[in-house]
Amino acid sequence: MVTEVTPEFVITDELAREIDRVLDEHGHDATQIVGVLLDVQALIEQQYVPQPVAFYVAQKLPIKVSVIYDCLTFYSALSPTPRAKYPVQVCRSIACKVNGSDSLFETVKEILGVEPGQVTYDGRFTIEEVSCFGACDVAPAIRINGKVYGHLDTPDKIRAVLAEFM
Ligand code: FES
Repeated sequence: MVTEVTPEFVITDELAREIDRVLDEHGHDATQIVGVLLDVQALIEQQYVPQPVAFYVAQKLPIKVSVIYDCLTFYSALSPTPRAKYPVQVCRSIACKVNGSDSLFETVKEILGVEPGQVTYDGRFTIEEVSCFGACDVAPAIRINGKVYGHLDTPDKIRAVLAEFM
C-alpha cells in the first residue's frame, strides 16, 4: 500500500518506515527537530523535505508544522524545495573569506561549470552560498549533505573533494 498525499510527492511505505525509524532514534523528542529534519532530508534523493513529509513528521512527532517550516527556511542545511543530489555549500562568512573563500568559490564554479542556483546537466550538483556553519577553525570550508570539508586552500584540494562525488 502507498500513502498518496499530493500528486507531486508520494510517501511510500518504505519511506514512511525510514522516517519512523528516524523519529524513534530521536526518541520522538521535539527539541531535536533540526536533527530529525536533517536525517529525514538525507533519505530523499533531492536533499529536501517535501511538504507531505513535513506534515507527516509534524503529525508523528508531534509538533506544529509551522515550526518545521521555520526550521526549513532558517537553517541553510535544510531545504523545503528540491535540490541537486549534492548541494555544494560554500561558506561566505568572514573567517572563510579571510582564508581564501573567494578563490575557493571561483574554483568550485569553474570545476562544476555552473553559477550558484544552477544545477549541473546531470542533476548532481548545485552551488549554494551560505553563512558560517561553525567550521571556522578549518576555514575555508564547504559543506556537502551535512559533511564539512575544510582547509580547502588550493585548487587540488578542492578538486579532490569534489571528485569523491563524481
Ligand atoms: S566563517 Fe566559514 S565556517 Fe565559519
